[in-house]
Amino acid sequence: MAAPMSQPPVAARPAVGEELTLRVESLAFGGAGVARAPGGYVVFVEGGFPGDLVRARVHQRKRSYAQARVSALLEPGLDQVAPLADHPGAPWQVLRYERQLEIKQEQVDDALRRIGKLDGFTLEPIIAAQQQWRYRNKLEYSFGTAEDGTLQCGFHAPGSWERIQHIEDCLLASEPANQARREVLEFCRAQGLAAFDRRTHEGFLRNLVVREGRRSGQLLVRLVSSRGELDVDALAGAVSCHGLLWTHTDARAETTVGGRTELLAGVPTIDERIGELELRISSEAFFQTNTEMAEVLYRLIVDAAQLRGWERVYDLYSGIGSIALTLAPRAGTVHGLELIEEAVADAIENADRNEITNASFYAGDVRLALGELVNRAGRPDVLVVDPPRAGLSQKIVRRVIEAAPKRIVYVSCNPTTLAPNAAQLVAAGWRLERVTPVDMFPQTPHIECVAVLTR
Ligand SMILES: C[S@@+](CC[C@H](N)C(=O)[O-])C[C@H]1O[C@@H](n2cnc3c(N)ncnc32)[C@H](O)[C@@H]1O
Repeated sequence: MAAPMSQPPVAARPAVGEELTLRVESLAFGGAGVARAPGGYVVFVEGGFPGDLVRARVHQRKRSYAQARVSALLEPGLDQVAPLADHPGAPWQVLRYERQLEIKQEQVDDALRRIGKLDGFTLEPIIAAQQQWRYRNKLEYSFGTAEDGTLQCGFHAPGSWERIQHIEDCLLASEPANQARREVLEFCRAQGLAAFDRRTHEGFLRNLVVREGRRSGQLLVRLVSSRGELDVDALAGAVSCHGLLWTHTDARAETTVGGRTELLAGVPTIDERIGELELRISSEAFFQTNTEMAEVLYRLIVDAAQLRGWERVYDLYSGIGSIALTLAPRAGTVHGLELIEEAVADAIENADRNEITNASFYAGDVRLALGELVNRAGRPDVLVVDPPRAGLSQKIVRRVIEAAPKRIVYVSCNPTTLAPNAAQLVAAGWRLERVTPVDMFPQTPHIECVAVLTR
């Protein structure tokens, strides 16, 4: 029976596995293309860009939208450029760099206005990256096996948990960091070592983490494997680096965190310089992955904090203390709070190295330890918060509200979580003054920004 004229047409919901021909209209947060199937049903298309006509296979279906992955590009969008790197870590490389910046700027605006229902703030123009390629100081590679049995080292193929796409030259890493990966791979091939099979959980080699002190030139190489035999002296002789580590793990999941780590050669840390600070970074501590742009980010934070020399400052999610120590010479006292003990130890060492005596660091979960810090150190005048992508839970925002800082500097790597957090703070009496996006991650959909809220 035909539907009555007054009702909109019912959107046909494609089945999982079905292949659709779609014209991509725009980009969603996180970088998937947005298209509409006949009838208006929304399909998020991984690997699709505005203007593209694609064939895409549906792999997930919900009531109001589906997720699909491009299986063939029938007609590229007008605005696109040829990709430079065969690199799943650089999905936005087909967009001109200026277009990448425009989209990031629009997405920050959209998140704040639509998700956070915020207005009356100044959105500064996005700050472009200094380097569009070879900007990462840390890369995590995965081992895999080619069809002919050759050992490979690269990245997961888009959308695949078990297939590894080999890489010869990773254009997001420096030349020396690439060289270290090649040396490890050549050694492992010569030794006949097998990659870990993600389906059967057999095999040995899992991941390779290469970190680089961009200003010191030091490389820290960490091999992650299942339990097994490794000729550690031969490996140490084959790889030129400042520190070589070996992590063995029984984990089934793909992770480079945890397990048991041994130092095979050199030292387990690298040195980095950022602004006026000399920093030590341990192998598993978080550090901003784009050193040059972190310097730009930290200058924005200094500007946003507007310190006059007497203030009590909190740095929540303080990592190795780099924000706290940048602010310390301009503040009365600074208190950093961070979950990972190794990073807190780095922060304490970094304060010593830089002869900073008004900064203290605490190991703890912000959710539980923030109230305790307020009791111990007193309320902050300025609070800097730099959480992981998930942002702050409503409960943590309530703890921040109770701490009652006059000024909040929110450093965010995800505008869709910044928006509701800022909205909660605005509802509690703060004003969102200014937001400045910074491009720390060219060729990817990731967006960083600094927001200033005042009371
Ligand atoms: C985005 S990083 C920021 C690091 C630092 N501010 C910087 O600029 O290098 C987030 C940090 O939060 C830490 N972290 C994650 N969850 C946490 C929690 N619940 N409590 C405290 N720290 C946490 C992570 O270990 C990481 O160091």
